[in-house]
Amino acid sequence: MQPTKVKTAVVGCGMISSIYIRNLSQMFSVIDLCAVCNRRREAAEARAREFGIARAMTIDEAAADPEIELIVNLTPAFAHYDIIKKMLLAGKHVYTEKVFTTDLEKSRELVALANEKGLYLGVAPDTVLGAGIQTARYLIDTGMIGEVTSVQMAVNRNQALNSEVFTFLQGEGGSLPFDVGVYYVGALVALLGSVTHIAAFGNPAPVHEPQMAFLNAGKEPWQIPGMNTVGASLRMENGAVCTVHMDGNTIGETQHAFTIYGTRGILKIGDPDKFADPITLILPENAPVQMPFTHGFDGKNYLGAPTAFDHYGHRGIGAAELAWALRKGRPRARLSGEYGLHCQEILQGMEIAAETGGVYEVQSRCEMKGLRPGYFSGMFGRAMRGDAEASLME
Ligand SMILES: NC(=O)c1ccc[n+]([C@@H]2O[C@H](COP(=O)([O-])OP(=O)(O)OC[C@H]3O[C@@H](n4cnc5c(N)ncnc54)[C@H](O)[C@@H]3O)[C@@H](O)[C@H]2O)c1
Repeated sequence: MQPTKVKTAVVGCGMISSIYIRNLSQMFSVIDLCAVCNRRREAAEARAREFGIARAMTIDEAAADPEIELIVNLTPAFAHYDIIKKMLLAGKHVYTEKVFTTDLEKSRELVALANEKGLYLGVAPDTVLGAGIQTARYLIDTGMIGEVTSVQMAVNRNQALNSEVFTFLQGEGGSLPFDVGVYYVGALVALLGSVTHIAAFGNPAPVHEPQMAFLNAGKEPWQIPGMNTVGASLRMENGAVCTVHMDGNTIGETQHAFTIYGTRGILKIGDPDKFADPITLILPENAPVQMPFTHGFDGKNYLGAPTAFDHYGHRGIGAAELAWALRKGRPRARLSGEYGLHCQEILQGMEIAAETGGVYEVQSRCEMKGLRPGYFSGMFGRAMRGDAEASLME
């Protein structure tokens, strides 16, 4: 029997909200997106009109509304603590864009509050539930590369230049590891489980003189907080070693790398910031093979005419999976407090290890179950929408 839909409100009406609102209102049978909220009511009203959502309200009104069960928080990281706490205290389940907060202690406090109140608290990145990472997980679980021995991950951007356009990057949580590296760390945890120890070196972002005068005319120079370039070695609980290279102080032409080495083969993982970048299997005596996806949520638009934000893919699966966990009475969602705290502790642990010159011992742990394979987002040559949502139910 189809459970009752989870009455959901989106909070934050910025750039990423379009894809969330479209997907949450049309793609998942478990979600009833009944409201769009913002600090300024007019911005919420505009988004609600654009997507045909019944109600527009302020954040305080959403907290006080007895109909709303789940809040999907799409505000910048520095605003998360206050909004999430307000919603948990109001008895709402919360799914938030990454990261929980910019301070690990505050994130722990929120997870403890959610647990105490019996509420679900989930967190992005949800690209780890996409076709790419789930296919890689399935290949690892079925032994295609044997025992995992090591991992190499690298990502680069010009984070200071990016922060001229995405202004929230100028604040806490805007460094490359926290803003982009979190997709790599999230994928690492979703694929291989917990990290136990971290050694690292790092450098801060430079003080940035604005280059784009048309956007930032007359603005004083600024410096993105935190460590913007990190080289780290991680020890995984399964014994594998992982090399991390994240450079936000270089140019924006990303030279992405994500390779998992095993005793019997090697997997090359596509960009974990996307839902379905190619997964390539390398076995002895064979040419590398790009694997077919075993899972749905490939990031493509199956809902109708293409839109300007299709490249943001299947954002919203994390919230839908949490809604299914809630309706099915599972103890936790996949992108749970455990997942969010572990990813954040790894990011913060790299900074601490670099600052102290010591080895950081990770306190938290995370085990995430893979999604069931064989459910796809499109069917009959993509002429019809498929039933990938069914893979989120268990
Ligand atoms: N833009 C992207 O490509 C992208 C991709 C993935 C994830 N994200 C994440 O999604 C979140 C939002 O990103 P965005 O690009 O939509 O940002 P944005 O700046 O375009 O929009 C942010 C929204 O939050 C609201 N807001 C800002 N500060 C607030 C506060 N203190 N209290 C309440 N509301 C506040 C703003 O009014 C706005 O509606 C961030 O955490 C970001 O890391 C963004």
